[in-house]
Order: sequence, then structure tokens, then C-alpha cells
Amino acid sequence: MSKPEISEAMIFECFAAAQQKESIEQTAASFVDVEEYENQIMYPEFARWAEKAGQPALATLFRKVAGEEKLHAVWLRELYQDMGQPARGEDTERAIDALKTIRANCDTLIEMNPDGVVEKALAVAISVEEREYQDIYPRFRDQALAEGNQQAADVYQRVVDSESQHADWFRHALDQFRTGMATPALA
Ligand SMILES: [Fe+2]
Ligand SMILES: [Fe+2]
Repeated sequence: MSKPEISEAMIFECFAAAQQKESIEQTAASFVDVEEYENQIMYPEFARWAEKAGQPALATLFRKVAGEEKLHAVWLRELYQDMGQPARGEDTERAIDALKTIRANCDTLIEMNPDGVVEKALAVAISVEEREYQDIYPRFRDQALAEGNQQAADVYQRVVDSESQHADWFRHALDQFRTGMATPALA
């Protein structure tokens, strides 16, 4: 029987659209798109999986983080004027297509192994958040400081702090989830 595969790499690759550009404005434009993507697609999808897997508290957490990703997009958009909606890049289009494939496969997979799917979603969420608060946004903050743009540096730092909190929440949720899996509830 062919089993639909969902790898962490497959989901993680969805975020390849994020790139550091030559100027602060171009960098922010690239990341508004990523934050919107997390807000509109990735975390709502993870929430849907958690709901289907019978984990409403986790679904609520994914939706809460989704809402904060929207806030990040708003903050980044404020970094520069007259930006409008950034053009959707090829990478993001590819990411959306990948997610459509994931979604198509996922319902079957949830039926076979709901805990496995939810655990993978949490693991991916942690990877995404860690990459953002440990690597990407600190680099953008430092780039802004090097350009003497304190205001932009402050915004990037605010995003770093928020993504760091998201990673903490997801790590805690994954610990609890694994504990629950290892210790079946007493009837
Ligand atoms: Fe974010
Ligand atoms: Fe985040």
C-alpha cells in the first residue's frame, strides 16, 4: 500500500522564499510575504490538522500564533512607505503548491496516524520559529544597525522576541504532547 509521505523538509522548504536583500526595504518586502504566508496558510493548516486529530488546545495555539504572524507583517510593512502588497515571488508560489500537495495527502495520513502528523507539525513549527529568531531576524536587525537605521533595528528586535516566544510555546506543547503519548490517560 502506498503511504502518503509528509517530511519535515517538505514543509520547511515552504519558507525558502525568505531572503536577505541588499537593502532594508527589499528585505522587509521579502519577509512581509513570509509572515503573511504563515498567517494565512501554514498555521491555519496546522490548526486544521490538530483539530482533526482531536487536539483542540493545540489548534488554538496554532491559530493564536497565526494571528501574531499577521502582526509581524504589519510591523514590517510599516518599515517603509508606499510599499503596497509585495509581489508574490516564485518561491512562495512553489511553497503554496507544495502545501496544496501536503493538504491533499494529509487527511489520509491523519486517519492513519493523527498523533504522528500533529507531532510533525509541531516539530516543523519549532524549526521555522528557531530559524527566524536565531538566524534570520537577528541578521536583519544587524544589517539595519550597520545602515544606521535604529527604527528598523527596533522592529526586527521586536520580531525576534516574538518568534522566540513562539518557539518556547511550541517546544512546551511538543513536550506535553509527547508526555501524553507516552503516558496513556487512565480510564
Ligand atoms: Fe513571524
Ligand atoms: Fe512566529
